[in-house]
Amino acid sequence: MKGIILAGGRATRLYPVTKSVCKQLLPVYDKPLIYYPLSVLILAGIKEVLIISTPSDIGSFQKIFEDGRHLGLNISYAVQPQAQGIAQAFLIAEEFIANQRVALILGDNIFFGDKLGHVLSQAAANRQGATIFGYKVRDPQRYGVVSFDKNGVPKAIVEKPQVPLSDWAVTGLYFYDHEVVDIAKNLKPSRRGELEITDVNRLYLKKKKLHVQLLSRGFAWLDTGTPDSLLDASVFIRIVEERQGLKIGCIEEAAFRMKLINKKQLLALGKAMHTPYGGYLERIAAT
Ligand code: DAU
Repeated sequence: MKGIILAGGRATRLYPVTKSVCKQLLPVYDKPLIYYPLSVLILAGIKEVLIISTPSDIGSFQKIFEDGRHLGLNISYAVQPQAQGIAQAFLIAEEFIANQRVALILGDNIFFGDKLGHVLSQAAANRQGATIFGYKVRDPQRYGVVSFDKNGVPKAIVEKPQVPLSDWAVTGLYFYDHEVVDIAKNLKPSRRGELEITDVNRLYLKKKKLHVQLLSRGFAWLDTGTPDSLLDASVFIRIVEERQGLKIGCIEEAAFRMKLINKKQLLALGKAMHTPYGGYLERIAAT
């Protein structure tokens, strides 16, 4: 299975912060925002990753991750010249996907929760159709929203509805079978001129091939779209990391736990950093 991180867009809601720095590179406590979605793909068992970003930002991601070899990954890069919709990722990535199954994660989504690895590997093991994740929120009108019939079967999925039919927001993590590229090719831009991921999901729903995995209240799915939510995310990560002495979204640790790199490699990564973050990697390698 392949993995895509969509890390473009203009993040105008974070201006002036994002005028020259792309949102997905902003720090969330002790690491860049994009580390969190990358760690999710690693925990899902994905080794081949395509990062898509703007022409002006893609070089910064290349600088951070290079070809991903140090993490036991194969990371490649592609440009989205203009933000014409999340589903455009599948058109840009057609060659990379190469008719395989693919997971897409938005570069600004943070997930944290018990047995996250298990939830992810289950979704990745699903060979047919699509798997998306529902998360109960107080303000569903800000998101794609999925509603269910009385038997819990998904009934409708609507992008940013004015009157939401449920409290279940669709998160920015999606698993698809190889059909997704053809589906994306046949999409028409929405009224706001974008190829909508919600339209992709609606087509899977129509074919009865949409699986909605609900994330329980023990999970955190964090937003990073505004200065307040970005700060809240940093504080949340700091509190949990400080309390437990374990990091969230640590890509090197995730690569080690998934056996993509060994103790020696993890130790070397930590030693080269000369920071508390590096010290953490050394500690994990020593346990
Ligand atoms: O975060 C989950 C939500 O993400 C879903 O519930 C919605 O169904 C989905 O449409 C999306 O909503 P957003 O309002 O968050 O989408 P936004 O346009 O802000 O884009 C999300 C991220 O993807 C953002 O970091 C920018 C990036 N992006 C977006 C578009 C449209 C791109 O890199 N390229 C694009 O063309």
